Amino acid sequence: MREALVQASYLLASVLFILSLKSLSRADTAARGVDLAVAGMAIAIIGTLMQQTIIDYRWIALGLGVGTVIGIPLGTRVPMTAMPQRIAIALTFGASAATLVGIAEYHDHRETLALGQRVAVAIEVMLGSLTVAGSFVAAGKLQEVLPSKPLTYRGQNAANFGLMAVMVVILGAVVAGKGGMPMFYALVALAFIAGISLVLPIGGADMPVVVALLNSYSGLASAATGFALSNNVLLVSGALDGTSGFLLSMLMSKAMNRSFSNVLFGAFGSQTQTAAVGASSDLVATPISAEDAAVQLAYASNVVVVPGYGMAVAQAQHQVRELAELIEKRGGEVRYAIHPVAGRMPGHMNVLLAEANIPYDKLYDMDEINGDLSRADVALIIGANDVVNPAARTDPTSPIYGMPILNVDEAKSVIVLKRGMSVGFAGIDNMLFYQPRTRMLFGDAKASLVKLVTEIKAL
Ligand code: TAP
Repeated sequence: MREALVQASYLLASVLFILSLKSLSRADTAARGVDLAVAGMAIAIIGTLMQQTIIDYRWIALGLGVGTVIGIPLGTRVPMTAMPQRIAIALTFGASAATLVGIAEYHDHRETLALGQRVAVAIEVMLGSLTVAGSFVAAGKLQEVLPSKPLTYRGQNAANFGLMAVMVVILGAVVAGKGGMPMFYALVALAFIAGISLVLPIGGADMPVVVALLNSYSGLASAATGFALSNNVLLVSGALDGTSGFLLSMLMSKAMNRSFSNVLFGAFGSQTQTAAVGASSDLVATPISAEDAAVQLAYASNVVVVPGYGMAVAQAQHQVRELAELIEKRGGEVRYAIHPVAGRMPGHMNVLLAEANIPYDKLYDMDEINGDLSRADVALIIGANDVVNPAARTDPTSPIYGMPILNVDEAKSVIVLKRGMSVGFAGIDNMLFYQPRTRMLFGDAKASLVKLVTEIKAL
């Protein structure tokens, strides 16, 4: 009876995880998706706690206590802009768990494990250990505790391939049941070294894609754990995690104009070093006062807001909504153009705008709005840079050439809110800022928006 309840809870949890992923794919149902995942995880934990194989709850109670103490500040205190490194740290927890379970399983039962289980345990510890090390390096680079520029040396790719080849040979030996625990620990250690050496040559700029990829490795490690332990919910959730993480990294790399093989082999990320900065030293961007910008916005009938990383830094989403409501009250239409990699993680802008209660139906994906941008009276760029850089379309020498961008340069006029002329994530200049129809409203995005709101109210 108890086993049936455990299996029923796993089935229910698996269904909730699948529904959660489905809901997460749309902005208006994403919050429900998170609730479904939380419910699924709670049910899976309760089901696991009912397992008859548990003979002592003390370590579990300690784990729950420690996990809660770490998890609550991680979930509540970390700002959205630091989410990629927070996710990288969280990955190390799951991957460590998979590795430790694999080690315990092999240590206690290696004589009796069937071939399939040995394969699963070997893959589990290899991917788990690789993910732990890789995620630590990724988090360090994103937080700039480690140098974020690519760390390379001559013959690095050959060395990495050599390392992988040795790892595969040792994996084969473990699967064949040769070498006992020393061979097994050699696999864990080599995978750890591989995790470090595969991520070190990648620049901080590409870390979010790497984190998504490591997420998929960690998911596959969990799925292998589920297979080795005959635990259905781990198998299903690991497979979901593995495949969705992989798809996400593919989608992100496509939106950032990275090729599939670059992502798989990790040989990317050096572009920030080579990016040309200051190509426009002779050009001058034209500033605008808040007063003049307010007049332009107040009398515009079609405004497209483009939020970017700077809006997230300034936490200006509430002021954006206030400004939009004022324009709408005066009869103008305001829409939001969302680039898939605006900000620092997928859905970054959607989450922030939703936080400010901006209706989802006013949010337009790049493909939906690009054809319509030439009709916009004003394109209001708030802390965005790379995602509106026309060089991606026009300059074959640019490192972002080929990346799909929002064609705001086609709008009738452009107002850019940013603090100065600093480059964005890709480290390159943006000719949009110097074009005749563009005006720069310099200052922190939130402060500028407050000024705009005050000015429009005074009109
Ligand atoms: P960015 O190109 O990074 O530009 C952000 C701009 O915001 C900067 O030029 C900065 O200029 C300005 N800014 C910073 N703080 C500000 C503040 N307080 N007030 C006003 N402006 C401020 O941003 P983006 O256009 O959103 O592009 C995102 C970039 O991140 C892309 O290159 C993308 O490939 C990369 N990326 C994204 C993701 C995902 S999934 N979203 C993942 C990996 C990489 P000032 O310093 O002059 O103010």
